[in-house]
Amino acid sequence: MGENWYQDAVFYELYVRAFYDSTGSGHGDLAGVVEKLDYLKSLGVDCIWLLPIYPSPLKDDGYDVADYLGIHPDFGTLDDFRRLIEEAHARGLRVIADLVVNHTSDQHPWFVESRSSRDNPKRDWYVWSDTGKRYSETRIIFIDTEDSNWTYDERTGQYYWHRFYYHQPDLNFDNPDVQQAILDVMAYWLDLGIDGFRVDAVPYLYEREGTINENLPQTHAYLKRMRRFIDERWPHALLLCEANQPPEDVVAYFGEGDEFHMGFHFPLMPRIYMALRSGESAKLREVIQQTPPIPDGCQWCTFLRNHDELTLEMVSEEERQWMWQEYAPDPRMKLNLGIRRRLAPLLDNNPDRIMLANRILFSLPGSPIIYYGDEIGMGDAIYLPDRDGVRTPMQWNDRPNGGFSAARAAALYSPVIDGPVYGFQRVNTAAQENDPASLLNRMRMLIRLRKQHPLLARGSLRFLDPGNEAVLAFLRSEGDEHLLVLHHLGDRAVEIALNLAQFAGLIPVDLLSPGELYAPLDVAPLTLTLGCCETKWLKLNPPE
Ligand code: NOJ
Repeated sequence: MGENWYQDAVFYELYVRAFYDSTGSGHGDLAGVVEKLDYLKSLGVDCIWLLPIYPSPLKDDGYDVADYLGIHPDFGTLDDFRRLIEEAHARGLRVIADLVVNHTSDQHPWFVESRSSRDNPKRDWYVWSDTGKRYSETRIIFIDTEDSNWTYDERTGQYYWHRFYYHQPDLNFDNPDVQQAILDVMAYWLDLGIDGFRVDAVPYLYEREGTINENLPQTHAYLKRMRRFIDERWPHALLLCEANQPPEDVVAYFGEGDEFHMGFHFPLMPRIYMALRSGESAKLREVIQQTPPIPDGCQWCTFLRNHDELTLEMVSEEERQWMWQEYAPDPRMKLNLGIRRRLAPLLDNNPDRIMLANRILFSLPGSPIIYYGDEIGMGDAIYLPDRDGVRTPMQWNDRPNGGFSAARAAALYSPVIDGPVYGFQRVNTAAQENDPASLLNRMRMLIRLRKQHPLLARGSLRFLDPGNEAVLAFLRSEGDEHLLVLHHLGDRAVEIALNLAQFAGLIPVDLLSPGELYAPLDVAPLTLTLGCCETKWLKLNPPE
C-alpha cells in the first residue's frame, strides 16, 4: 500500500500491557507484541494502533503521560520499540500510537515545575486561575468521578484546568513553547519510524471565555500547523483524530484536506447497536445520510468497540436511556455517558449477531478498527474499576493465564477472564485457529474480502428501498463496479423485492457465499429471502 494507504486499511487497536507478556512480569510488553506480529499478519490487518506506551503513573492507562520521549519501563525500552517498528514493517504492517497532547500527568516534570511557584517559567505551560470559575459553560466529561474542570493547588493558591481526571492538567496551547514542544515530540517518534498518531482529545486544546471550549478556531489553526509540519518531512505519516463530536463538527477536523487524514466516526457506532437490537434500519440510514462528504484523501475510521466505555454522547437523551435499558441492564455496566462492556457480551455472545455487526461495519465507507480480543469474542469484567473490565489480558490458549503471561496469577496487572462462558479455557485464539467456523476465522475471511474489494473502502454509497424496515440495503459503487449489500437485522426470515432494472443483464455473485448461483438481473424486481442475521454482498458482474 502506498500513498493514502490508510484509506483501504484495516486497523487493530491493542493495549500493550494487555497483549502478551514476554518476560513473566505480569504486564504485556513491546517485545510481546513483536512475538505476536505473525498472528496479526495472519488476521490480515494492516495497521496496529498502540494505546499510550510512555512513562506514566498509569492512573488513566497511560493517557496520563509523565514523559513524552520514553517507554514505560513495564512495556520495555526504546530499543524494543525500534524492533517492533522494524519487525512490523518487515511484515508490511504499520504502527501508529496515541499522542496525548491536550494534557499531561500531574507527575510530568513540566507540571511539577509549573505548580512549584507562580513565577516558575513553566507556570504558563498550563492553565491557571485564581477563582476556578472561568469557562463555566464547559461540560464535564468524566461525570462519574469529577465534579469540576478546575482543581485547587494548595501550594500556590490557584486552580488548574483539566478536561479529564484531576490528575491530568491541560497544557496551555496559547503558549508558543508548548506548541513547539508538541511538534518536537512528534518529530522524535516519526524519526524513530512510527507511521503516525491517533491524536487524543483533539477538540479541547484551547480555551476561550464565553464558549463551550470545544472545536475552537485556534485549535483548528494549530492542527493545520501540525499537519504542515509532518507533511514536510514524513509525507506518508497518518494523523487520526479522536473527536467525539457530531459529524458536522468532526468533518471540520479534515479541514480542506489540510488537517487530519482520518477521524473516528463516533455517531455511527451506537446506531449500529440500535439497529441490531431494534431490528430497524432507519437510524443507521439517517446517520449515514447526515454525514457530510469529506475531502479527497481523507477517510473515516469506523469501529464497534474500543478501550473506553461504549460512548453514548452522540445520541439523544431518549436514545441513551433506551441503549442503557437494552444493553446495560445491570447498573454496574454503566459508566459516565456510556456502557463498559465488550462486543461479544453486548450481542449476547451470539456469533451470528457479532458477525452481522462486523459485516455492517466492513460494508460501510471508512476504514474499520478491530479492538483486540473482539475477533475471538472475548468477554468483559464489569466488576473491575473504571474501564479496566474491557482491558483484560488477551486470551491466547487454555494454559494458565490464558497463555498471556508466565507470572503467578496474582502478579498480573489484571485478572484474566475466567468462567464457563467467556473464560480463557474456552475463548482463546488457539482453540479457534483450526476451526473454520470460529469467529476468528470468520473475521479473517471478512478482512480478506474487504481487502480484495477496495470499493468497500472508497466507493460511493446509495441506499435502496427493499420495502422492509428490517433490511438495510445499499449499493457500493466505484467506476463500473457495483456491490449490492443487504443486511437483515431482524429475527424472522423476510422476503424482499429490489428494483435493479438499471443493472439488467448483470449477474450477482455473493462474495460471502460464492457457491450460491443467481440468474442474470432482469427489469422485474429481484426477490430474495433473507434469514435471521443474514447478509449478502452481491457483486454485480457482467456476463462472461
Ligand atoms: C480519550 C481516551 O480514549 C480515554 O481513554 C482517555 O481517558 C481520555 N481521552 C483522556 O486522555
